[in-house]
Amino acid sequence: MIKVGVLGAKGRMGSLVCRTVAAEEDMELGAAVDQGQPRDGLAGCDVAVDFTHPGAVLDNLRWCIGRGLDAIAGTSGFDDPKLAQVRDWLGAAPRSRVLVVPNFSVGAVLMMRFAEQAARFFTSAEVIELHHAGKADAPSGTASRTAAMISEARTAAGLGVPPDATVSELDGARGTTLDGGVHVHSVRLAGLVAHQEVLFGGPGEVLTIRHDSLDRVSFMPGVLAAIRGVASLPPGLTVGLDPLLGL
Ligand SMILES: NC(=O)c1ccc[n+]([C@@H]2O[C@H](COP(=O)([O-])OP(=O)(O)OC[C@H]3O[C@@H](n4cnc5c(N)ncnc54)[C@H](O)[C@@H]3O)[C@@H](O)[C@H]2O)c1
Repeated sequence: MIKVGVLGAKGRMGSLVCRTVAAEEDMELGAAVDQGQPRDGLAGCDVAVDFTHPGAVLDNLRWCIGRGLDAIAGTSGFDDPKLAQVRDWLGAAPRSRVLVVPNFSVGAVLMMRFAEQAARFFTSAEVIELHHAGKADAPSGTASRTAAMISEARTAAGLGVPPDATVSELDGARGTTLDGGVHVHSVRLAGLVAHQEVLFGGPGEVLTIRHDSLDRVSFMPGVLAAIRGVASLPPGLTVGLDPLLGL
């Protein structure tokens, strides 16, 4: 039986994780903690799952690392300095496993992998991400990561920046470009949840890879895989669900 503690337990994701864990036969909900509540109950758990806030998650991870507790962080906003801070707290001989997962959707993880595989075969590549109007950041972390993976694959294949003859444009008309020249476009629309299209173009053909998250339940298979698999990871920091999906 895996004893799971949830941080952010009253939130949209955290409350769904609590219900999902409670319904699994090999798991039990050991602690459900939200803002202002003591974290002590987490100490008796096998793993803590954090869906809180970018401003809160680091302190929670430090608390878990200090107690040798394994932790899974789904909270967004992990840039390189934040990951470096976590590595620093883990130290040279880590006791905890910390798994940071930018996207728990298995479909989204596969979309990124398929895009990375396709990248070297096409002259052009662009990413369009589409989200609900309440999303605070643009482009999404998933879109930025996808563009980076495509750019790395293009560079490895000796491809340069995708062709683009634009010489005049209104600000933003071509979206934004990250390193490697892959354009990323962000749509914010009431009614949407989380969607992304990756477009590849070559002589006489276009390949479109599209993923749609239609409901938060789409994240639960990935969360359960992380809870079941975290103890199999080496102590220290792991980023992404890929190793637990055999990718
Ligand atoms: N990795 C993924 O696949 C994925 C998927 C969906 C959402 N997210 C991210 O998960 C996070 C949570 O999303 P949400 O929609 O559930 O947000 P939410 O605002 O509904 O819930 C966050 C909860 O965390 C609580 N909280 C804040 N600080 C806390 C602290 N220090 N200790 C304990 N609880 C605390 C809040 O009171 C709230 O109940 C966001 O960063 C979001 O971007 C990640």
